[in-house]
Amino acid sequence: MCGIVGYIGAREAQPILINCLKRLEYRGYDSCGIALLGETAEVHKDAIRIEALERSLQPNDSQAGIGHTRWATHGKPSGINAHPHTDCSGTIAVVHNGVIENFLQLREQLTSEGHTFRSETDTEVIPHLIEKYYKGDLEPAVLKALADIAGSYAFIAIRAGCDELVVARKDSPLIIGIGDKEYLVASDVPAVLDYTDRVIYLEDGDLATITQGTFKLTSNGKQIERTVHRVPWTMEEAQKAGYEHFMLKEIHEQPRAIQNTFAGYISALEPEIDLGIRKDIDFDNISIMACGTSYHAALVGKHAINKLVQIPVNVDMASEFNYSDTILGKSLVIVVTQSGETADSLKALKKAKELGCYTLVITNVVGSSATRIADDILYIKAGPEISVAATKSFVAQLIMLYLVALAHSAIDTRSRGSLLTELRQLPNRLYEILDREEEIAGHGKYLAGYDNIFFVARGINYPIALEGALKLKEISYIHAEGYAAGELKHGPFALLTLDTPVVAIAAKDNTYETLLANIKEMKARESPVIAIAEEGDAEIEQYVDFVVRVPKVDPLFSPVVNVTALQLLAYYTAKERGCPIDTPRNLAKSVTVE
Ligand code: G6P
Repeated sequence: MCGIVGYIGAREAQPILINCLKRLEYRGYDSCGIALLGETAEVHKDAIRIEALERSLQPNDSQAGIGHTRWATHGKPSGINAHPHTDCSGTIAVVHNGVIENFLQLREQLTSEGHTFRSETDTEVIPHLIEKYYKGDLEPAVLKALADIAGSYAFIAIRAGCDELVVARKDSPLIIGIGDKEYLVASDVPAVLDYTDRVIYLEDGDLATITQGTFKLTSNGKQIERTVHRVPWTMEEAQKAGYEHFMLKEIHEQPRAIQNTFAGYISALEPEIDLGIRKDIDFDNISIMACGTSYHAALVGKHAINKLVQIPVNVDMASEFNYSDTILGKSLVIVVTQSGETADSLKALKKAKELGCYTLVITNVVGSSATRIADDILYIKAGPEISVAATKSFVAQLIMLYLVALAHSAIDTRSRGSLLTELRQLPNRLYEILDREEEIAGHGKYLAGYDNIFFVARGINYPIALEGALKLKEISYIHAEGYAAGELKHGPFALLTLDTPVVAIAAKDNTYETLLANIKEMKARESPVIAIAEEGDAEIEQYVDFVVRVPKVDPLFSPVVNVTALQLLAYYTAKERGCPIDTPRNLAKSVTVE
């Protein structure tokens, strides 16, 4: 996830900006840069590590500047795409975190007005818009630029000749650190902790104009004041934003992550989706390959595509496909891989290409190996994931697969419109589950006392049972198995006792009644049963021991809410057992061997 920093005060800005950027390294980045305020906006940036950038710099006595670590979402990691971005004359420089959804239209408009763009980024429209509106004062020009922008942003703008930083926020975090006769701006608290522990958290709609000794804050045009907070965290605590583990932080980032996934693909006004991938590919079936958690996302994708596109879909574990005689035919091959580096998935991708298939990769990492092999790419834009156990990348993969299904769907405009409305609401539904964290934590404590646990579901939630079991086993070391609820009686029933709890996902779709029958069978074998069930489902309570409530959503999207509950359940079970949640034994985030 990109990180931004800014400094204005009485000291040399350059070393402070570099230090602040280093404090944001944990967020992941592929390029970095700074701009120093002087007679020009002096920019230094490249697709290099911060240390390398630091070594390349000459001393500079400027007392104000901005900096950025980029985690590519629009355009590959490169010096040109790195921030800061400037206007035509190079006097205005901007660092930005977020997604400008209408950047293509703005870019077209500005180009027709004579602006020249250098990068592939969405951000570059911001300095050009400010340039367009600049009439001698930076703040009003920024305000006018903001009025043209749709999307999310936290940015800092500077202009040579104006001794100030202008910062604005909407849907992307931004804080101002208040030091002794100096101000620091950053997307995250750790960036400023070496200089001050006094911070203001900006809110959506806030705009601040900061000079060496003054600070003016407005919100939607009105001058306001915001509370100055003292941050009680150590650096490590701050990097986890106060969460005990990165996994928990990343689960909490899911609403934002999935907003980023669909931003830019769904038109704000029309029920339309434009994924920006080739539309003239001739295929009569889809074959999806993936590993681990991504494989579970692929299985959900199969259900969604089957339902909406009505085309045969086959899902293979990449490691199995590579040594199989699977016949692909006229297939569109989709490889799902959060890292873009999994050896088995890369091998499958190459094999599919050799077999003459058109290949599409769904990944989180711009410039990863998979993106260099595949014919087309869809980025999930979930932001870097540090915990080994995949969480936010998984839900973002689900969203992307829904978008693929919806983009190719044969359903009428109205139905598509209402599904898109539901999709847009999913972040809010996830916040509702996060509000129940304490209750889920209680169930986690309960499960921590068992050695074997089954996860069952039917239909589109069967892959979520697999994922729930995988999450639990990898971080809590409890033996867990995901099963199709109807299959339990063909073997696992022999294992069901008082000591074998079952977590059953009871989605209110066409599988519900049969699942209830399966739950009764489990109870007859004395297994404690925890149901994941939607609000308002009173019936379930009479059959199970505990119910974890999830918000009601269209059954097609129920995997997104159900998996979030299961991730929290796994997290709190592992926490109760004192496991090293972010770094489970024997596991790696990216598996580059077959
Ligand atoms: C490793 C990770 C998993 C991931 C799997 C596939 O095992 O720990 O979280 O699901 O690799 O990775 P990919 O990057 O291809 O999605």
